Amino acid sequence: MDRRLFGCLVEHMGRCVYTGIFEPGHPAADADGFRTDVAELVGELGVTLVRYPGGNFVSGYDWTDGIGPRERRPRRLDLAWRSVETNQVGTDDFLAWTTRLGLEPMLAVNLGTKGVQQAAALVEYCNVPGGTQWSDLRRGNGAPDPHGVRLWCLGNEMDGPWQQGHLPADRYADLAVEAAQAMRRVDPTVELVACGSSSHQMPTFGSWEATVLEGAGDHVDYLSMHAYYEEHDGDRDSFLASGAAMDSYIDGVVATIDAVAARRRRKRRIHIAFDEWNVWYQSHFPGVENLPVDVSGPRIEDVYSTVDAVVVGDLLSTLVNHADRVKIACLAQLVNVIAPIMTEPGGAAWRQPTFHPFAEVAASARGNSLVARTAGPELATRRHGYVPAVNVAATHDPMSGEVAVFLTNRYPQEMTVDLLHSGFENWTLRSVDHLPSDDRGPRERKTAATVRLTPLARHRSRSGSTELDLPPRSWTQLRASVRTP
Ligand code: AHR
Repeated sequence: MDRRLFGCLVEHMGRCVYTGIFEPGHPAADADGFRTDVAELVGELGVTLVRYPGGNFVSGYDWTDGIGPRERRPRRLDLAWRSVETNQVGTDDFLAWTTRLGLEPMLAVNLGTKGVQQAAALVEYCNVPGGTQWSDLRRGNGAPDPHGVRLWCLGNEMDGPWQQGHLPADRYADLAVEAAQAMRRVDPTVELVACGSSSHQMPTFGSWEATVLEGAGDHVDYLSMHAYYEEHDGDRDSFLASGAAMDSYIDGVVATIDAVAARRRRKRRIHIAFDEWNVWYQSHFPGVENLPVDVSGPRIEDVYSTVDAVVVGDLLSTLVNHADRVKIACLAQLVNVIAPIMTEPGGAAWRQPTFHPFAEVAASARGNSLVARTAGPELATRRHGYVPAVNVAATHDPMSGEVAVFLTNRYPQEMTVDLLHSGFENWTLRSVDHLPSDDRGPRERKTAATVRLTPLARHRSRSGSTELDLPPRSWTQLRASVRTP
């Protein structure tokens, strides 16, 4: 498993940056205006990588607005989210923050309204040690050492008609090739992500991927995937099957990547950057046109329930199960905007229910993703057909001998699971904790920090197996130590 599976998106959107990670004057702000209480929660969440500055925002962004003395930075109207962007946080500020927190940055370049020259200039600004126009400007702006940003997204959701500068697939592929060539001439060590479809539902899904890879496949390392899930019209069974929907979405993209590679006789493997995923009640979004123009006004601050948290846990299992091809993933987003961490301006920062499964998996899923199989009943769903009632993912770290198993009971009734682990010698159970969902009636949104994992009372150890009674619609994490054979 690549540890970059535990990334998040930080977009200049709503209150993710302003009054989210950054709030000068807040009692917990550091010397640069970043909130240390939020930074602590980011550490607890176990985030490894942060994608920035968008999202849709990047397609209208001029990164040169966000560098240099703060008092000279322009206030621009951001058309993606109808906000006034004050540019008080920009590239250097963000990268200094990721360095302080020990996070890997993943930067997106604007291929919507800017283009190749500005993309190459940003790589030069970030990664060239000095002696050129843009690198010397960075040094003058107080960053003497190069930022050394390895991972770059070639635009964002360029298949979406809502995207500023949206293009048909063949034209995007040409642009991605030009940008990739220029960026690699500045720094040959960069890793590049081409835009895949912005969702499985896009009418161009499949053909977009094939065309982009035919044209740009020799120049990129990853193809992006994005997906958001929600409960539609009280159809909880389908919602609980989101992990299965993500599973077949990934299978479809992997098949497309490999079909194009075979046709083009490409040996090099292109992997997946699932760089936006989450539960998002998109059907509640009023549409950008209906948003007031404001400075860091709230945008899509979904309040999550324990059912949402169980689904997030299950989506993580799907990502872990595809660790051979999904190398990067970003929960979208990190703070306030459909986020595991919420803040009050001038006040507290707290965890949403979805914080917990992410933090647990990020902490305990290490080493190798195991091929875990289930046999048992299926859940019949309206949207996704029959899916396994219990989903499982497991990891084994050969260095520490730690095993982690993640189980989702998607079924509305208790399920007894017999977990067979006889292949491991000296299996010592360390803990079994679970997140029950508050599954009575409509989603009960949880704003307070009352949600946490608790020990699963009913489990029995046998020789070579562990039997567990999984409550209805719950998420469970088991940890064990083993002797590596
Ligand atoms: O995360 C919110 C938005 O969802 C992002 O800006 C965009 O990339 C996606 O459509």
